[in-house]
Amino acid sequence: MALYAIGDLHLHFSSPLKAGAQRRERVWKDHEEKFRRSCTSLLGEDDTLVLVGDHSWGRDLDESAADLRWIAALPGRKILTRGNHDMFWGASKTPLLNERWAGELFFLQNNYAACGDVALVGTKGHCFEGPFWLDGRGRILGWDGEAEEQAKKLVERELARLRLSFEAAKADGYRRFIVFLHYPPTSILEDESGFTAMAEEYGAEKLIYAHCHGEARFHDSLEGLHRGVEYRLVSGDYLNWQPLKLLD
Ligand SMILES: [Fe+2]
Ligand SMILES: [Fe+2]
Repeated sequence: MALYAIGDLHLHFSSPLKAGAQRRERVWKDHEEKFRRSCTSLLGEDDTLVLVGDHSWGRDLDESAADLRWIAALPGRKILTRGNHDMFWGASKTPLLNERWAGELFFLQNNYAACGDVALVGTKGHCFEGPFWLDGRGRILGWDGEAEEQAKKLVERELARLRLSFEAAKADGYRRFIVFLHYPPTSILEDESGFTAMAEEYGAEKLIYAHCHGEARFHDSLEGLHRGVEYRLVSGDYLNWQPLKLLD
């Protein structure tokens, strides 16, 4: 009954590869096979793997179907949150995806999944990522205020979805929570946010996120224990394609 997490697989079994880094950087070479082998050695059929977004480069469900089938064939129970690149997963499509992939994949949004007495809650999340204006040493001098305002609206929408997820679990009697987001819980300008506040409000034990990949981004957000919540980055390249164990 162990619980593992990882994110940013960026599969492209039936769609064009869009990111240059995936062609050039060593960590991405045969990453699908490295990850599949890690899963086969770590996970049993009773275990749970949460994949926190950016599953597929596919532009729609047809283009992503091969990637989803590949994920479904991994050992254990698979739970997915939305990533910003998951074009196959419009926000309103979650019930449809859960119906279509019932028994194979569970899509986590406005709902929750149980893992023993722990409720797994989650949503895509959001945070402000610029544009920033930097000086010659890379220090932030300012940023695009309009983009920041737009980001705030998306943050509010995602917070409402996360609250639905928490409340669904709470209504069923769950008191232990782990939060899964795709985006980091804080922007590089923040050390707290609506997401950290909500995790604290419900007494979540951990908050797991990805999206920050490439070495330059590994420390964009919170890591370790902050105000009672443990924060962990699980981007696939950060973990070298070995899912992180969260519960035994
Ligand atoms: Fe990504
Ligand atoms: Fe992402």
